[in-house]
Amino acid sequence: MSTIQPVILTADQDVLRRFYTDLFGAEEIFRVPAEGPAFYLGLRIGDTDLGLVTEPDPGDGAAPRILLSIGVDDVDETLGRVEALGGSVSSGPKDMPWGQRVAHIRDPDGNAVNVTQAANELIREALAPYPEDLVIATKVGPLPGPDGMPSGQATPDQLRGLVEADLRALGVDRLDVVNLRVGGMSGPGGESVAERFAVLAGLRQEGLIRHLGVSNIDAAQLVEARSVAPVACVQNPYADDLALLAECEAAGIAYVPFFLLGGGREPLDARRLEKVAARLDATVAQVQLALLLASSPVMLAIPGTGNLAHLEENMAARDLTLTDDDLADLRG
Ligand SMILES: NC(=O)c1ccc[n+]([C@@H]2O[C@H](COP(=O)([O-])OP(=O)(O)OC[C@H]3O[C@@H](n4cnc5c(N)ncnc54)[C@H](OP(=O)(O)O)[C@@H]3O)[C@@H](O)[C@H]2O)c1
Repeated sequence: MSTIQPVILTADQDVLRRFYTDLFGAEEIFRVPAEGPAFYLGLRIGDTDLGLVTEPDPGDGAAPRILLSIGVDDVDETLGRVEALGGSVSSGPKDMPWGQRVAHIRDPDGNAVNVTQAANELIREALAPYPEDLVIATKVGPLPGPDGMPSGQATPDQLRGLVEADLRALGVDRLDVVNLRVGGMSGPGGESVAERFAVLAGLRQEGLIRHLGVSNIDAAQLVEARSVAPVACVQNPYADDLALLAECEAAGIAYVPFFLLGGGREPLDARRLEKVAARLDATVAQVQLALLLASSPVMLAIPGTGNLAHLEENMAARDLTLTDDDLADLRG
């Protein structure tokens, strides 16, 4: 199913924001970047989203100032049919840092149309109606900074809009797990998480979220978050932060490292992994995952892949049992 979102290009976003807010009760639900002048402002009017995009020189009327942005299930498949139907592809597809795949096309009359696909919509298309025992974890917090990289952070008053957008895209009344991801591109930054976590705790109280998690945090930030509401999981960079892991074990909090396969880079201890993998007739990735899962009862593995064979291989790693000898060889 497609959703059509009009997008208006404007040289003066504030004037249009005020117009649509005061006249139609529009609410801001999304902004890129989080701080400073917005490039993209998402407004919600009733059941509709309206985008306001800053375009310093939007032309004198001959250039389009209103675009249709159409959400589709598969941008690439859609693009493949554009030219046969008399349209043209202007640019893309491109993966944007805010989790959308976007292409720009023209219809046969030359009208500009953005074609977009969101990861959550893909999940809904593939998995809904959702099985009872499926748990979908989502993440709010990071927004693209001025350079387009996800270095900006959502402010407390932006979090409700982000959670509601995930509810709509997944087609659910309640999100199973929402992680508050804090900090920039590097490790935990140590800033206070209380105000933002309290907003999510409020949404949980309202029944929009079942469990809360925190991501990219240090031990003090975990203590702070737990003083606001229960924390079900911690999603941190894969590293030997044994103190934080011990904290999670003691509190029964799931520890969910990201980049657990090194983000696809060659593992540092490849020779040890290869030796054990050969002995077990397994792959290096499977041994990495089994080793991770063996390291703690609260450890969860979220290997990322766009390859179906790798997905099956990674799922099968659950059944790989490492002996004491394997563990000794791996740990060196
Ligand atoms: N909270 C945060 O700030 C944060 C930050 C980054 C990532 N994450 C999340 O953490 C998870 C993992 O992150 P990630 O995907 O970037 O890193 P990752 O899981 O460490 O590595 C993924 C890479 O490993 C490759 N791979 C996966 N399975 C493989 C296999 N069986 N054999 C060989 N190569 C394999 C993938 O390539 P193929 O596609 O070819 O399989 C991909 O290049 C994701 O769910 C991601 O969304 C969270």
